[in-house]
Amino acid sequence: MEFINAYEDTRRAEAYAKLEFPGTYYLAYRDLPDIILRHVKGRKAIDFGCGTGRSSRFLQGLGFNVTGVDVAADMIKLAQTRDPNGAYCLVEDGNLGQFQADAFDLVLSVFTFDNIPTVAKKVAIFREFGRLLKSEGIIVNLVSSPQIYVNEWASFTTKNFPENKYARSGEKVKIIITDIEDQRPVEDIVWTDKAYQEVFKRAGLQIVDTYRPLAKESEPYQWVSETRIAPWVIYVLKRD
Ligand SMILES: C[S@@+](CC[C@H](N)C(=O)[O-])C[C@H]1O[C@@H](n2cnc3c(N)ncnc32)[C@H](O)[C@@H]1O
Repeated sequence: MEFINAYEDTRRAEAYAKLEFPGTYYLAYRDLPDIILRHVKGRKAIDFGCGTGRSSRFLQGLGFNVTGVDVAADMIKLAQTRDPNGAYCLVEDGNLGQFQADAFDLVLSVFTFDNIPTVAKKVAIFREFGRLLKSEGIIVNLVSSPQIYVNEWASFTTKNFPENKYARSGEKVKIIITDIEDQRPVEDIVWTDKAYQEVFKRAGLQIVDTYRPLAKESEPYQWVSETRIAPWVIYVLKRD
């Protein structure tokens, strides 16, 4: 299966750089401070798939010393422009060899695995995360739930892609981010909970906790499905 990372694209990078935490993105990040501060001991982190740096700046705000890494040159460039004192690093696909083993308290990955195809590739990257972690280190992996691709949301639409509901785990699906001016569909890879569990096992990782945040009516957003259906899944992992 041919798969192109939708974020290796100048126009999308520029649009994405303007995104903060509107709507469904707010819900993705809402519970992360509590989750991270509850599970993670030290403050040295790597932000895998940092994009234009939103997730890295977020971690800095929690007091972390962060290195952001990404495969998309345009995204990293914009992360650096926005945060000249931050540490951002362009990496080759799946290659984290330049980073020391047993060095990080936290590996954070927000949305990145939605754009990484195949079991083999996911397993290889999670194995690398295991190598990078200190013995008590934690991985926080936030991904899209399969439901995101078959419902409507404050920040996303999928109604033009009815074929999404026939996609099996590991297949391509399409989604439009309505919060940015670039309304071209993004192609993601749908991945079920069962398939993630298999990946983590093969990578020598254990699930510590799984969260599926739901929105509250009292929050100041025009929720669509978010109060009933969780668009995101957050896995907290450690080495076996
Ligand atoms: C949806 S963006 C999320 C960016 C950021 N984490 C945030 O929350 O704003 C996903 C990012 O993952 C990156 N990515 C995809 N495959 C990757 C890989 N194999 N290694 C590193 N980054 C990758 C993409 O280039 C893109 O910048």
